[in-house]
Amino acid sequence: MQVENLAKAYGSLQALHPLSFSLQPGECVAILGPNGAGKTTLIEMLVGLTQPDSGTIEYGGRSLFSHKADILEEIGVQLQESTLYKKYTVRETLQLFASFYRGPTQEEALLTRLNLQEKADTRLEKLSGGQKQRLYLGCALVHNPQLVFLDEPTASLDPQSRRYLWDLIQSLKKEGRGILLATHYLEEAEFLADRVLILDQGSLIATGTPQGLISQYSRESQLDAQVRDLDAPTWAQLQTEFTTLKMQGDLATGRISAAGDPEKLEILLQQLLSHHKGNVQAVTLRQSRLEDVFLQLTGRKIRDE
Ligand SMILES: Nc1ncnc2c1ncn2[C@@H]1O[C@H](COP(=O)(O)OP(=O)(O)OP(=O)(O)O)[C@@H](O)[C@H]1O
Ligand SMILES: [Mg+2]
Repeated sequence: MQVENLAKAYGSLQALHPLSFSLQPGECVAILGPNGAGKTTLIEMLVGLTQPDSGTIEYGGRSLFSHKADILEEIGVQLQESTLYKKYTVRETLQLFASFYRGPTQEEALLTRLNLQEKADTRLEKLSGGQKQRLYLGCALVHNPQLVFLDEPTASLDPQSRRYLWDLIQSLKKEGRGILLATHYLEEAEFLADRVLILDQGSLIATGTPQGLISQYSRESQLDAQVRDLDAPTWAQLQTEFTTLKMQGDLATGRISAAGDPEKLEILLQQLLSHHKGNVQAVTLRQSRLEDVFLQLTGRKIRDE
């Protein structure tokens, strides 16, 4: 799939500024952005539900606008807000979705894959959040699509259900399907995506591999430690040597933290562990994550927690 200069406004609000990118089979591209960034607007245009103001969308060289019926057979979509008929069973729901498409369906194999065999005859109203979410994903897969569009597939799930879906999504990728994943979970993008597009207020503010973005925008590491009964001269000495060192609380019981060059923080870590072992606890040194990239680019956190 190839997109060139795709743009959309709702009245005076530019929901998406001209955006170009591609999605290849076997890769996962994450659209990462906070609420209102334009992720859903983008996905809805890519699957033919919303008319763009300008730009082109091509699948294998065919325009979505002139080959929509054929292209819809090849792509699967899980929308952010799905409301399915709650009196239908899991199996009936999959059958309903399968009936929208021409090809054969492998409903039984899909039930196994989604770990919903035992719930096949259960009505939707009796499913847990995680089970429902897996069924929604299943509805996007009934026709064995080459490209799959997922709009926040793990929103508000517990960590275990989220992890299960991540594994499912990864197995789709291994089968050679292309995945476009809209998310505001940074760790989800970091875990699943080969490439990330960071959207903010309708604009693409950065793009690259998760690791590439981290080394390009935020090479800083972060050190944190708990201190107890640290003496004033030692603290003064540490602060002179490591100028980014900050203290929350006081010398008797507080937290120290420093951000900066990974090599320099490694030295601080060694120093704390060798000379001040009795006064520091729970020392952690971590590399930058996509979270730090977003913070650095926008000055804001991607989501409030
Ligand atoms: N049908 C519409 N009419 C008017 N404005 C809209 C419409 N749909 C979306 N918007 C606006 O466009 C902007 C982008 O919305 P969109 O739903 O694409 O964001 P999003 O990144 O999917 O957000 P979220 O993470 O909350 O799902 C928002 O400011 C939103 O209020
Ligand atoms: Mg959305």
